[in-house]
Amino acid sequence: MGVSSEVFPSETPLEKLRHARGIIISGGPSSVYDDSSPTMETAVLTAGIPVLGICYGQQLIAHLLGGDVRKGNKGEFGLALLDLTGQESQLLRGVKNHQQVWMSHRDKVAAPPPGFRVVATTSTCDTGAIEDPLRRLYAVQFHPEVVHTTGGLTILRNFLFDICGCEKDWNAGQRIALIQDLIRERAGDRNIFFFVSGGVDSTVAFMLCLEALGSERVRGVYVDTGLMREGETDFVRGTFAGLGLVRIEECSEEFLGALEGVREPELKRHIIGEQFVKIQERIIEERGLLSGRWVLGQGTIYPDTIESGGTAKAATIKTHHNRVPGIQKLIDSGHIVEPLADFYKDEVRAIGRELGLAPQLLERHPFPGPGLAIRCLCAETDQPVTVVPDGYLVPVRSVGVQGDSRSYAPVLAIDAFPLQASRLQDEATELVNRSVGVNRVIARVAAREPLAKQHVFASSITHGRIELLRAADAIVRQISHDSGFDKDVWQFPVILIPVGAGEARDSIVLRPIQSVDGMTADSVTMPDDLLHEMANRLMAIPEIAGVYYDLTHKPPGTIEWE
Ligand code: XMP
Repeated sequence: MGVSSEVFPSETPLEKLRHARGIIISGGPSSVYDDSSPTMETAVLTAGIPVLGICYGQQLIAHLLGGDVRKGNKGEFGLALLDLTGQESQLLRGVKNHQQVWMSHRDKVAAPPPGFRVVATTSTCDTGAIEDPLRRLYAVQFHPEVVHTTGGLTILRNFLFDICGCEKDWNAGQRIALIQDLIRERAGDRNIFFFVSGGVDSTVAFMLCLEALGSERVRGVYVDTGLMREGETDFVRGTFAGLGLVRIEECSEEFLGALEGVREPELKRHIIGEQFVKIQERIIEERGLLSGRWVLGQGTIYPDTIESGGTAKAATIKTHHNRVPGIQKLIDSGHIVEPLADFYKDEVRAIGRELGLAPQLLERHPFPGPGLAIRCLCAETDQPVTVVPDGYLVPVRSVGVQGDSRSYAPVLAIDAFPLQASRLQDEATELVNRSVGVNRVIARVAAREPLAKQHVFASSITHGRIELLRAADAIVRQISHDSGFDKDVWQFPVILIPVGAGEARDSIVLRPIQSVDGMTADSVTMPDDLLHEMANRLMAIPEIAGVYYDLTHKPPGTIEWE
Protein backbone atom coordinates (compact mmCIF):
# COMPACT_ATOMS: atom_id res chain seq x y z
CA MET A 1 0.00 0.00 0.00
CA GLY A 2 3.02 2.23 -0.43
CA VAL A 3 3.94 2.45 3.25
CA SER A 4 7.34 1.13 4.24
CA SER A 5 7.15 -1.46 6.97
CA GLU A 6 9.44 -3.74 8.94
CA VAL A 7 8.84 -7.20 10.39
CA PHE A 8 9.88 -7.79 14.00
CA PRO A 9 9.49 -10.72 16.40
CA SER A 10 6.49 -10.18 18.67
CA GLU A 11 8.65 -9.99 21.82
CA THR A 12 10.48 -6.86 20.55
CA PRO A 13 10.61 -4.38 23.44
CA LEU A 14 8.78 -1.06 23.25
CA GLU A 15 12.13 0.73 23.24
CA LYS A 16 12.81 -0.56 19.72
CA LEU A 17 9.32 0.29 18.47
CA ARG A 18 8.95 3.88 19.60
CA HIS A 19 9.69 5.16 16.10
CA ALA A 20 6.71 3.28 14.66
CA ARG A 21 3.67 5.16 13.35
CA GLY A 22 1.62 2.04 13.92
CA ILE A 23 2.02 -1.62 14.80
CA ILE A 24 0.27 -4.65 13.32
CA ILE A 25 0.27 -7.84 15.35
CA SER A 26 -0.13 -10.70 12.95
CA GLY A 27 -1.97 -13.99 13.15
CA GLY A 28 -0.39 -17.33 14.01
CA PRO A 29 -1.38 -20.87 14.91
CA SER A 30 -0.78 -20.67 18.66
CA SER A 31 -3.20 -20.38 21.54
CA VAL A 32 -2.49 -17.69 24.14
CA TYR A 33 -2.78 -20.50 26.69
CA ASP A 34 0.15 -22.52 25.30
CA ASP A 35 3.36 -22.26 27.31
CA SER A 36 5.56 -21.30 24.40
CA SER A 37 3.15 -19.14 22.43
CA PRO A 38 4.36 -15.75 21.21
CA THR A 39 3.63 -12.85 23.49
CA MET A 40 4.54 -9.18 23.69
CA GLU A 41 5.22 -6.41 26.18
CA THR A 42 1.90 -5.00 27.42
CA ALA A 43 3.66 -1.62 27.40
CA VAL A 44 3.55 -1.69 23.59
CA LEU A 45 -0.23 -1.61 23.84
CA THR A 46 -0.38 1.29 26.25
CA ALA A 47 2.23 3.57 24.68
CA GLY A 48 -0.29 5.46 22.55
CA ILE A 49 1.01 3.97 19.27
CA PRO A 50 -1.93 2.71 17.19
CA VAL A 51 -2.06 -1.10 17.19
CA LEU A 52 -4.03 -3.42 14.91
CA GLY A 53 -4.27 -7.04 16.06
CA ILE A 54 -5.19 -9.66 13.48
CA CYS A 55 -6.53 -13.10 14.49
CA TYR A 56 -4.00 -14.35 17.09
CA GLY A 57 -3.04 -10.67 17.42
CA GLN A 58 -6.61 -9.92 18.56
CA GLN A 59 -6.56 -12.78 21.02
CA LEU A 60 -3.22 -11.66 22.42
CA ILE A 61 -4.42 -8.07 22.92
CA ALA A 62 -7.58 -9.34 24.63
CA HIS A 63 -5.59 -11.73 26.82
CA LEU A 64 -3.03 -9.11 27.89
CA LEU A 65 -5.58 -6.37 28.60
CA GLY A 66 -8.07 -8.36 30.66
CA GLY A 67 -10.50 -9.72 28.06
CA ASP A 68 -11.73 -13.30 27.98
CA VAL A 69 -10.16 -15.63 25.42
CA ARG A 70 -11.84 -19.02 25.13
CA LYS A 71 -9.97 -22.07 23.99
CA GLY A 72 -11.57 -23.73 20.98
CA ASN A 73 -11.24 -27.41 20.19
CA LYS A 74 -12.51 -27.12 16.67
CA GLY A 75 -11.73 -24.31 14.37
CA GLU A 76 -13.48 -22.05 11.92
CA PHE A 77 -11.64 -22.03 8.63
CA GLY A 78 -12.96 -20.31 5.56
CA LEU A 79 -15.62 -17.87 4.54
CA ALA A 80 -17.85 -15.84 6.89
CA LEU A 81 -20.04 -12.74 6.58
CA LEU A 82 -19.22 -9.70 8.67
CA ASP A 83 -22.20 -7.98 10.32
CA LEU A 84 -21.59 -4.40 11.44
CA THR A 85 -23.04 -3.69 14.89
CA GLY A 86 -23.78 -0.06 14.01
CA GLN A 87 -21.33 1.28 16.60
CA GLU A 88 -19.15 4.10 15.31
CA SER A 89 -15.94 2.55 13.91
CA GLN A 90 -12.83 4.21 12.56
CA LEU A 91 -11.37 0.93 11.44
CA LEU A 92 -14.39 -0.25 9.45
CA ARG A 93 -15.31 3.08 7.87
CA GLY A 94 -16.45 2.39 4.30
CA VAL A 95 -16.80 -1.36 4.85
CA LYS A 96 -20.21 -2.59 3.70
CA ASN A 97 -22.49 -4.64 5.91
CA HIS A 98 -22.48 -8.43 5.25
CA GLN A 99 -19.07 -8.23 3.64
CA GLN A 100 -17.23 -11.50 2.98
CA VAL A 101 -14.29 -12.16 5.32
CA TRP A 102 -11.84 -15.03 5.65
CA MET A 103 -11.55 -16.76 9.01
CA SER A 104 -8.88 -19.16 10.19
CA HIS A 105 -8.89 -19.65 13.95
CA ARG A 106 -9.51 -22.02 16.82
CA ASP A 107 -9.57 -19.85 19.98
CA LYS A 108 -11.78 -16.78 20.13
CA VAL A 109 -12.35 -13.69 22.20
CA ALA A 110 -15.50 -14.31 24.26
CA ALA A 111 -15.43 -10.85 25.86
CA PRO A 112 -13.26 -7.90 24.83
CA PRO A 113 -11.12 -6.14 27.44
CA PRO A 114 -12.62 -3.19 29.38
CA GLY A 115 -12.78 -0.05 27.24
CA PHE A 116 -13.29 -1.92 23.96
CA ARG A 117 -16.50 -1.95 21.94
CA VAL A 118 -17.58 -4.58 19.45
CA VAL A 119 -17.98 -3.07 15.98
CA ALA A 120 -18.63 -6.23 13.96
CA THR A 121 -19.61 -9.86 14.45
CA THR A 122 -20.07 -12.99 12.34
CA SER A 123 -22.58 -15.79 12.83
CA THR A 124 -19.97 -17.80 14.72
CA CYS A 125 -17.89 -15.05 16.31
CA ASP A 126 -19.28 -12.33 18.60
CA THR A 127 -16.08 -10.31 18.41
CA GLY A 128 -15.39 -10.09 14.66
CA ALA A 129 -13.89 -6.62 15.13
CA ILE A 130 -13.29 -4.66 18.34
CA GLU A 131 -11.78 -1.27 19.06
CA ASP A 132 -10.81 1.14 21.80
CA PRO A 133 -10.30 4.42 19.95
CA LEU A 134 -9.21 6.26 23.10
CA ARG A 135 -6.20 3.98 23.48
CA ARG A 136 -5.93 3.66 19.67
CA LEU A 137 -6.26 -0.14 19.81
CA TYR A 138 -8.04 -2.10 17.07
CA ALA A 139 -8.41 -5.80 16.49
CA VAL A 140 -10.11 -8.22 14.09
CA GLN A 141 -10.60 -11.97 14.29
CA PHE A 142 -10.66 -12.40 10.50
CA HIS A 143 -7.82 -11.78 8.05
CA PRO A 144 -8.08 -8.41 6.27
CA GLU A 145 -4.79 -9.12 4.46
CA VAL A 146 -6.06 -11.98 2.31
CA VAL A 147 -7.72 -11.53 -1.04
CA HIS A 148 -10.84 -13.37 0.10
CA THR A 149 -11.71 -10.65 2.60
CA THR A 150 -13.46 -8.32 0.19
CA GLY A 151 -13.18 -5.12 2.24
CA GLY A 152 -9.75 -6.04 3.63
CA LEU A 153 -7.83 -3.33 1.84
CA THR A 154 -10.29 -0.66 3.03
CA ILE A 155 -9.64 -1.76 6.60
CA LEU A 156 -5.88 -1.70 6.18
CA ARG A 157 -6.10 1.68 4.43
CA ASN A 158 -8.19 3.10 7.31
CA PHE A 159 -5.63 1.85 9.79
CA LEU A 160 -2.57 3.11 7.92
CA PHE A 161 -3.73 6.47 6.67
CA ASP A 162 -6.56 7.62 8.98
CA ILE A 163 -5.61 6.04 12.28
CA CYS A 164 -1.80 6.01 12.08
CA GLY A 165 -1.48 9.04 9.80
CA CYS A 166 1.07 7.27 7.60
CA GLU A 167 2.09 8.68 4.27
CA LYS A 168 3.02 6.80 1.15
CA ASP A 169 6.78 6.59 1.41
CA TRP A 170 7.52 3.46 -0.60
CA ASN A 171 7.13 3.22 -4.32
CA ALA A 172 6.97 -0.05 -6.19
CA GLY A 173 8.48 1.71 -9.21
CA GLN A 174 11.79 2.04 -7.38
CA ARG A 175 12.00 -1.58 -6.40
CA ILE A 176 14.01 -2.85 -9.37
CA ALA A 177 16.76 -0.32 -8.72
CA LEU A 178 16.72 -1.18 -5.00
CA ILE A 179 16.86 -4.94 -5.68
CA GLN A 180 19.76 -4.46 -8.05
CA ASP A 181 21.65 -2.36 -5.48
CA LEU A 182 21.10 -5.20 -3.04
CA ILE A 183 22.41 -7.77 -5.52
CA ARG A 184 25.55 -5.72 -6.13
CA GLU A 185 26.06 -5.20 -2.43
CA ARG A 186 25.62 -8.89 -1.55
CA ALA A 187 27.78 -10.12 -4.38
CA GLY A 188 30.57 -7.61 -3.79
CA ASP A 189 33.36 -8.61 -6.14
CA ARG A 190 32.08 -12.18 -6.39
CA ASN A 191 30.17 -13.70 -9.31
CA ILE A 192 26.76 -15.32 -9.15
CA PHE A 193 26.01 -18.89 -9.92
CA PHE A 194 22.27 -19.34 -10.39
CA PHE A 195 19.96 -22.35 -10.42
CA VAL A 196 17.12 -21.66 -12.85
CA SER A 197 14.10 -23.93 -13.21
CA GLY A 198 12.24 -22.35 -16.11
CA GLY A 199 9.67 -21.09 -13.60
CA VAL A 200 8.66 -17.48 -13.03
CA ASP A 201 10.56 -16.82 -9.79
CA SER A 202 13.97 -18.10 -10.79
CA THR A 203 13.69 -16.54 -14.25
CA VAL A 204 12.90 -13.09 -12.86
CA ALA A 205 15.59 -13.39 -10.15
CA PHE A 206 18.15 -14.54 -12.71
CA MET A 207 17.34 -11.64 -15.05
CA LEU A 208 17.67 -9.16 -12.17
CA CYS A 209 21.15 -10.54 -11.45
CA LEU A 210 22.11 -10.44 -15.12
CA GLU A 211 21.06 -6.81 -15.41
CA ALA A 212 22.74 -5.87 -12.13
CA LEU A 213 26.12 -7.52 -12.79
CA GLY A 214 26.27 -8.18 -16.52
CA SER A 215 26.40 -11.53 -18.30
CA GLU A 216 30.14 -11.98 -17.65
CA ARG A 217 29.53 -12.36 -13.92
CA VAL A 218 26.38 -14.46 -13.86
CA ARG A 219 26.15 -18.14 -14.76
CA GLY A 220 22.89 -20.07 -14.92
CA VAL A 221 22.48 -23.79 -14.47
CA TYR A 222 19.31 -25.74 -15.06
CA VAL A 223 19.25 -29.11 -13.38
CA ASP A 224 17.10 -31.77 -14.99
CA THR A 225 16.12 -33.60 -11.81
CA GLY A 226 13.98 -36.19 -13.56
CA LEU A 227 11.11 -34.69 -11.55
CA MET A 228 10.14 -32.06 -14.08
CA ARG A 229 7.01 -31.98 -16.20
CA GLU A 230 7.08 -33.36 -19.71
CA GLY A 231 8.80 -31.06 -22.18
CA GLU A 232 10.22 -28.77 -19.48
CA THR A 233 13.88 -29.30 -20.25
CA ASP A 234 13.22 -28.56 -23.92
CA PHE A 235 11.38 -25.41 -22.94
CA VAL A 236 14.38 -24.21 -20.93
CA ARG A 237 16.75 -25.17 -23.72
CA GLY A 238 14.67 -23.13 -26.15
CA THR A 239 14.31 -20.15 -23.84
CA PHE A 240 17.74 -19.71 -22.28
CA ALA A 241 20.27 -22.16 -23.53
CA GLY A 242 20.20 -20.71 -27.03
CA LEU A 243 21.31 -17.40 -25.53
CA GLY A 244 24.31 -19.15 -24.00
CA LEU A 245 23.18 -18.03 -20.57
CA VAL A 246 22.23 -21.32 -19.02
CA ARG A 247 23.93 -24.67 -18.97
CA ILE A 248 21.77 -27.78 -18.71
CA GLU A 249 22.86 -30.48 -16.25
CA GLU A 250 21.29 -33.89 -16.72
CA CYS A 251 20.99 -35.28 -13.18
CA SER A 252 17.82 -37.36 -13.24
CA GLU A 253 19.56 -40.61 -12.32
CA GLU A 254 21.15 -38.96 -9.29
CA PHE A 255 17.90 -37.47 -8.02
CA LEU A 256 15.71 -40.47 -8.71
CA GLY A 257 18.38 -42.76 -7.26
CA ALA A 258 18.50 -40.74 -4.03
CA LEU A 259 14.72 -40.79 -3.80
CA GLU A 260 14.13 -44.43 -4.72
CA GLY A 261 12.11 -46.11 -1.99
CA VAL A 262 11.51 -42.87 -0.02
CA ARG A 263 8.00 -42.34 1.41
CA GLU A 264 8.29 -39.56 3.94
CA PRO A 265 7.23 -36.11 2.56
CA GLU A 266 9.70 -34.02 4.56
CA LEU A 267 12.51 -36.46 3.76
CA LYS A 268 11.78 -36.03 0.03
CA ARG A 269 12.21 -32.26 0.32
CA HIS A 270 15.42 -32.66 2.30
CA ILE A 271 16.93 -35.14 -0.14
CA ILE A 272 16.08 -32.91 -3.11
CA GLY A 273 17.41 -29.73 -1.47
CA GLU A 274 20.64 -31.43 -0.42
CA GLN A 275 21.02 -32.97 -3.86
CA PHE A 276 20.94 -29.47 -5.34
CA VAL A 277 23.71 -28.44 -2.92
CA LYS A 278 25.83 -31.46 -3.94
CA ILE A 279 25.43 -30.62 -7.61
CA GLN A 280 26.33 -27.02 -6.96
CA GLU A 281 29.49 -28.08 -5.11
CA ARG A 282 30.38 -30.48 -7.89
CA ILE A 283 29.94 -27.84 -10.59
CA ILE A 284 32.00 -25.32 -8.65
CA GLU A 285 34.75 -27.89 -8.16
CA GLU A 286 34.68 -29.26 -11.70
CA ARG A 287 35.08 -25.86 -13.23
CA GLY A 288 37.63 -24.71 -10.72
CA LEU A 289 35.37 -21.92 -9.51
CA LEU A 290 36.83 -20.82 -6.22
CA SER A 291 34.08 -20.79 -3.63
CA GLY A 292 35.36 -17.46 -2.33
CA ARG A 293 34.62 -15.89 -5.69
CA TRP A 294 31.12 -17.24 -6.13
CA VAL A 295 27.80 -16.92 -4.44
CA LEU A 296 24.67 -18.92 -5.16
CA GLY A 297 21.58 -17.12 -6.48
CA GLN A 298 18.11 -18.51 -5.80
CA GLY A 299 14.60 -17.50 -6.82
CA THR A 300 13.16 -17.87 -3.30
CA ILE A 301 10.10 -15.65 -2.78
CA TYR A 302 8.47 -14.39 0.41
CA PRO A 303 5.86 -17.15 0.98
CA ASP A 304 8.67 -19.71 0.68
CA THR A 305 10.40 -18.20 3.69
CA ILE A 306 7.36 -17.52 5.86
CA GLU A 307 5.91 -20.95 5.20
CA SER A 308 9.30 -22.46 6.09
CA GLY A 309 9.20 -20.78 9.50
CA GLY A 310 11.16 -17.71 8.41
CA THR A 311 11.09 -15.99 11.80
CA ALA A 312 11.75 -17.61 15.16
CA LYS A 313 8.10 -17.94 16.18
CA ALA A 314 6.53 -18.54 12.75
CA ALA A 315 5.18 -22.06 12.41
CA THR A 316 7.07 -24.31 10.01
CA ILE A 317 4.45 -25.04 7.41
CA LYS A 318 6.80 -26.87 5.11
CA THR A 319 10.53 -27.12 4.67
CA HIS A 320 11.06 -25.45 1.36
CA HIS A 321 13.74 -27.09 -0.76
CA ASN A 322 15.58 -23.74 -0.72
CA ARG A 323 15.83 -23.91 3.09
CA VAL A 324 17.43 -27.28 3.81
CA PRO A 325 20.49 -27.31 6.16
CA GLY A 326 23.07 -27.26 3.34
CA ILE A 327 21.52 -24.08 1.93
CA GLN A 328 21.09 -22.61 5.40
CA LYS A 329 24.86 -23.00 5.90
CA LEU A 330 25.47 -21.02 2.71
CA ILE A 331 23.04 -18.35 3.87
CA ASP A 332 24.74 -18.10 7.26
CA SER A 333 28.15 -17.74 5.63
CA GLY A 334 26.93 -15.03 3.24
CA HIS A 335 27.06 -17.16 0.09
CA ILE A 336 23.49 -16.71 -1.08
CA VAL A 337 21.72 -13.97 -3.01
CA GLU A 338 17.91 -14.09 -3.08
CA PRO A 339 16.76 -10.97 -4.92
CA LEU A 340 13.04 -11.78 -4.56
CA ALA A 341 12.97 -12.96 -0.96
CA ASP A 342 10.68 -10.08 0.08
CA PHE A 343 8.10 -10.41 -2.70
CA TYR A 344 4.91 -12.32 -3.38
CA LYS A 345 4.23 -14.10 -6.67
CA ASP A 346 2.00 -11.35 -8.10
CA GLU A 347 4.73 -8.79 -7.38
CA VAL A 348 7.34 -11.05 -8.97
CA ARG A 349 5.24 -11.17 -12.13
CA ALA A 350 4.90 -7.37 -12.08
CA ILE A 351 8.68 -6.99 -11.73
CA GLY A 352 9.11 -9.42 -14.63
CA ARG A 353 6.79 -7.29 -16.75
CA GLU A 354 8.78 -4.18 -15.85
CA LEU A 355 11.93 -6.02 -16.96
CA GLY A 356 10.25 -6.69 -20.29
CA LEU A 357 10.06 -10.48 -19.98
CA ALA A 358 7.75 -12.27 -22.39
CA PRO A 359 4.19 -12.99 -21.16
CA GLN A 360 4.56 -16.71 -21.99
CA LEU A 361 7.35 -16.83 -19.39
CA LEU A 362 5.59 -14.73 -16.78
CA GLU A 363 2.16 -16.29 -17.04
CA ARG A 364 3.40 -19.85 -16.55
CA HIS A 365 1.73 -21.64 -13.68
CA PRO A 366 3.87 -21.99 -10.58
CA PHE A 367 5.57 -25.36 -10.27
CA PRO A 368 7.26 -26.42 -7.02
CA GLY A 369 11.04 -26.81 -6.99
CA PRO A 370 10.93 -30.40 -5.69
CA GLY A 371 8.76 -31.13 -8.72
CA LEU A 372 6.72 -34.26 -9.24
CA ALA A 373 8.25 -35.86 -6.12
CA ILE A 374 5.89 -33.95 -3.83
CA ARG A 375 2.92 -34.79 -6.05
CA CYS A 376 3.66 -38.51 -5.93
CA LEU A 377 2.13 -39.58 -2.62
CA CYS A 378 3.44 -42.66 -0.86
CA ALA A 379 2.20 -44.92 1.92
CA GLU A 380 3.92 -47.05 4.55
CA THR A 381 1.45 -49.93 4.54
CA ASP A 382 -1.59 -51.35 2.75
CA GLN A 383 -4.76 -50.00 4.32
CA PRO A 384 -8.45 -50.23 3.38
CA VAL A 385 -10.67 -47.29 2.47
CA THR A 386 -13.35 -47.16 5.18
CA VAL A 387 -16.93 -45.93 5.22
CA VAL A 388 -17.58 -42.95 7.52
CA PRO A 389 -20.79 -40.92 8.04
CA ASP A 390 -19.85 -38.21 5.49
CA GLY A 391 -18.31 -40.48 2.85
CA TYR A 392 -15.15 -42.59 2.66
CA LEU A 393 -11.99 -42.13 4.64
CA VAL A 394 -8.96 -42.56 2.37
CA PRO A 395 -5.87 -43.07 4.55
CA VAL A 396 -3.30 -41.22 2.45
CA ARG A 397 -1.54 -38.38 4.23
CA SER A 398 -2.28 -35.01 2.71
CA VAL A 399 -1.48 -31.57 4.06
CA GLY A 400 -3.89 -29.05 5.45
CA VAL A 401 -3.27 -25.60 6.85
CA GLN A 402 -5.63 -24.61 9.60
CA GLY A 403 -4.98 -21.60 11.78
CA ASP A 404 -1.60 -21.31 9.98
CA SER A 405 -0.42 -24.63 11.32
CA ARG A 406 0.29 -27.42 8.92
CA SER A 407 -0.81 -30.98 9.54
CA TYR A 408 -0.98 -34.27 7.68
CA ALA A 409 -4.33 -36.04 7.76
CA PRO A 410 -6.37 -38.58 5.77
CA VAL A 411 -8.68 -37.44 3.00
CA LEU A 412 -12.46 -37.60 2.88
CA ALA A 413 -13.74 -38.91 -0.45
CA ILE A 414 -17.34 -38.47 -1.55
CA ASP A 415 -19.17 -40.24 -4.28
CA ALA A 416 -20.54 -37.31 -6.23
CA PHE A 417 -21.64 -38.15 -9.67
CA PRO A 418 -22.30 -36.07 -11.71
CA LEU A 419 -20.00 -33.53 -10.17
CA GLN A 420 -21.67 -30.28 -9.12
CA ALA A 421 -18.48 -28.79 -7.94
CA SER A 422 -19.57 -25.30 -6.92
CA ARG A 423 -22.10 -26.61 -4.40
CA LEU A 424 -19.67 -29.26 -3.20
CA GLN A 425 -16.84 -26.79 -2.71
CA ASP A 426 -18.91 -24.88 -0.14
CA GLU A 427 -19.85 -28.14 1.49
CA ALA A 428 -16.22 -29.27 1.54
CA THR A 429 -15.23 -26.45 3.91
CA GLU A 430 -18.11 -27.38 6.20
CA LEU A 431 -17.19 -31.04 6.06
CA VAL A 432 -13.61 -30.30 7.03
CA ASN A 433 -14.69 -27.97 9.84
CA ARG A 434 -17.13 -30.64 11.03
CA SER A 435 -15.06 -33.79 10.76
CA VAL A 436 -12.04 -33.50 12.99
CA GLY A 437 -9.18 -35.45 11.48
CA VAL A 438 -9.45 -34.62 7.77
CA ASN A 439 -8.35 -31.48 6.02
CA ARG A 440 -9.30 -32.21 2.46
CA VAL A 441 -12.35 -33.43 0.53
CA ILE A 442 -12.23 -35.05 -2.90
CA ALA A 443 -15.03 -36.19 -5.18
CA ARG A 444 -14.91 -39.31 -7.30
CA VAL A 445 -15.09 -38.49 -11.01
CA ALA A 446 -14.29 -41.95 -12.40
CA ALA A 447 -13.12 -45.24 -10.90
CA ARG A 448 -12.80 -48.86 -11.96
CA GLU A 449 -14.17 -50.09 -8.62
CA PRO A 450 -16.55 -48.54 -6.07
CA LEU A 451 -14.79 -46.56 -3.34
CA ALA A 452 -15.65 -49.13 -0.68
CA LYS A 453 -13.58 -51.74 -2.55
CA GLN A 454 -10.49 -49.57 -2.91
CA HIS A 455 -7.26 -49.74 -0.92
CA VAL A 456 -4.31 -47.59 -0.17
CA PHE A 457 -1.25 -49.56 -1.29
CA ALA A 458 2.16 -49.48 0.37
CA SER A 459 4.19 -47.42 -2.09
CA SER A 460 7.25 -45.23 -2.45
CA ILE A 461 8.84 -43.04 -5.10
CA THR A 462 9.87 -45.16 -8.06
CA HIS A 463 10.84 -44.43 -11.64
CA GLY A 464 7.61 -46.04 -12.77
CA ARG A 465 5.29 -43.99 -10.57
CA ILE A 466 7.03 -40.73 -11.53
CA GLU A 467 6.65 -41.67 -15.22
CA LEU A 468 2.97 -42.46 -14.66
CA LEU A 469 2.42 -39.11 -12.97
CA ARG A 470 4.35 -37.28 -15.68
CA ALA A 471 2.19 -38.89 -18.36
CA ALA A 472 -1.05 -38.02 -16.51
CA ASP A 473 0.13 -34.46 -15.90
CA ALA A 474 0.97 -34.06 -19.60
CA ILE A 475 -2.55 -35.19 -20.59
CA VAL A 476 -4.21 -32.74 -18.20
CA ARG A 477 -1.90 -29.94 -19.23
CA GLN A 478 -2.51 -30.52 -22.91
CA ILE A 479 -6.31 -30.53 -22.53
CA SER A 480 -6.24 -27.45 -20.27
CA HIS A 481 -4.07 -25.65 -22.76
CA ASP A 482 -6.08 -26.60 -25.85
CA SER A 483 -9.37 -25.61 -24.21
CA GLY A 484 -7.99 -22.37 -22.73
CA PHE A 485 -8.89 -23.57 -19.22
CA ASP A 486 -5.30 -23.02 -18.11
CA LYS A 487 -5.97 -19.26 -18.38
CA ASP A 488 -8.84 -19.57 -15.87
CA VAL A 489 -6.66 -21.06 -13.14
CA TRP A 490 -3.61 -19.92 -11.23
CA GLN A 491 -2.19 -23.39 -10.83
CA PHE A 492 -3.34 -26.92 -11.65
CA PRO A 493 -1.50 -29.60 -9.70
CA VAL A 494 -2.08 -33.20 -10.76
CA ILE A 495 -1.39 -35.64 -7.94
CA LEU A 496 -0.77 -39.37 -7.93
CA ILE A 497 -2.20 -41.18 -4.89
CA PRO A 498 -1.59 -44.87 -4.16
CA VAL A 499 -5.30 -45.69 -4.15
CA GLY A 500 -6.88 -48.40 -6.26
CA ALA A 501 -7.86 -52.03 -6.48
CA GLY A 502 -6.40 -55.14 -8.13
CA GLU A 503 -3.62 -54.37 -10.60
CA ALA A 504 -4.42 -50.65 -10.94
CA ARG A 505 -2.85 -49.28 -7.77
CA ASP A 506 -2.74 -45.54 -8.33
CA SER A 507 -5.30 -42.81 -8.88
CA ILE A 508 -5.13 -39.23 -10.09
CA VAL A 509 -6.37 -36.16 -8.25
CA LEU A 510 -7.10 -33.00 -10.22
CA ARG A 511 -6.48 -29.81 -8.20
CA PRO A 512 -7.27 -26.70 -10.28
CA ILE A 513 -7.14 -23.60 -8.08
CA GLN A 514 -7.50 -19.86 -8.33
CA SER A 515 -5.26 -17.61 -6.26
CA VAL A 516 -3.47 -14.28 -6.30
CA ASP A 517 -0.39 -14.99 -4.25
CA GLY A 518 -0.56 -18.69 -3.32
CA MET A 519 -1.21 -17.90 0.35
CA THR A 520 -4.93 -18.57 0.03
CA ALA A 521 -6.68 -20.32 -2.83
CA ASP A 522 -10.07 -21.42 -4.14
CA SER A 523 -10.85 -24.79 -5.62
CA VAL A 524 -12.09 -23.99 -9.14
CA THR A 525 -15.11 -25.51 -10.88
CA MET A 526 -14.32 -27.04 -14.25
CA PRO A 527 -16.77 -27.36 -17.16
CA ASP A 528 -18.28 -30.87 -17.16
CA ASP A 529 -17.30 -31.76 -20.71
CA LEU A 530 -13.69 -30.82 -20.06
CA LEU A 531 -13.62 -32.84 -16.86
CA HIS A 532 -15.01 -35.88 -18.60
CA GLU A 533 -12.56 -35.57 -21.46
CA MET A 534 -9.71 -35.50 -18.93
CA ALA A 535 -11.13 -38.39 -16.92
CA ASN A 536 -11.65 -40.52 -20.05
CA ARG A 537 -8.12 -39.91 -21.27
CA LEU A 538 -6.67 -40.67 -17.84
CA MET A 539 -8.76 -43.81 -17.36
CA ALA A 540 -7.42 -45.09 -20.67
CA ILE A 541 -4.08 -45.61 -18.86
CA PRO A 542 -4.34 -49.18 -17.49
CA GLU A 543 -2.39 -48.40 -14.28
CA ILE A 544 -4.84 -45.64 -13.29
CA ALA A 545 -7.62 -46.87 -11.00
CA GLY A 546 -9.59 -43.67 -10.64
CA VAL A 547 -9.82 -39.91 -11.10
CA TYR A 548 -10.79 -37.54 -8.28
CA TYR A 549 -11.44 -33.82 -7.99
CA ASP A 550 -10.08 -31.84 -5.05
CA LEU A 551 -12.89 -29.60 -3.71
CA THR A 552 -10.90 -27.99 -0.91
CA HIS A 553 -10.07 -24.32 -0.63
CA LYS A 554 -6.85 -23.11 1.09
CA PRO A 555 -7.33 -22.99 4.01
CA PRO A 556 -8.20 -25.66 5.10
CA GLY A 557 -6.24 -27.63 2.44
CA THR A 558 -2.92 -26.46 1.01
CA ILE A 559 -2.48 -26.15 -2.74
CA GLU A 560 -0.05 -29.05 -2.95
CA TRP A 561 -0.81 -32.35 -1.23
CA GLU A 562 2.53 -32.51 0.56
P1 XMP B 1 1.03 -24.81 -0.66
O1 XMP B 1 0.98 -26.26 -1.03
O2 XMP B 1 1.91 -24.57 0.51
O3 XMP B 1 1.72 -24.10 -1.88
O4 XMP B 1 -0.33 -24.22 -0.49
C1 XMP B 1 1.82 -22.71 -2.10
C2 XMP B 1 2.62 -22.50 -3.36
O5 XMP B 1 3.99 -22.89 -3.15
C3 XMP B 1 4.39 -23.89 -4.10
N1 XMP B 1 5.30 -24.81 -3.39
C4 XMP B 1 6.63 -24.87 -3.56
N2 XMP B 1 7.44 -24.21 -4.42
N3 XMP B 1 9.32 -25.38 -3.55
C5 XMP B 1 8.77 -24.49 -4.43
O6 XMP B 1 9.52 -23.93 -5.23
C6 XMP B 1 8.57 -26.08 -2.65
O7 XMP B 1 9.09 -26.87 -1.86
C7 XMP B 1 7.16 -25.82 -2.69
N4 XMP B 1 6.11 -26.32 -2.00
C8 XMP B 1 4.98 -25.68 -2.45
C9 XMP B 1 3.09 -24.53 -4.54
O8 XMP B 1 3.22 -25.15 -5.80
C10 XMP B 1 2.14 -23.34 -4.52
O9 XMP B 1 2.25 -22.57 -5.69
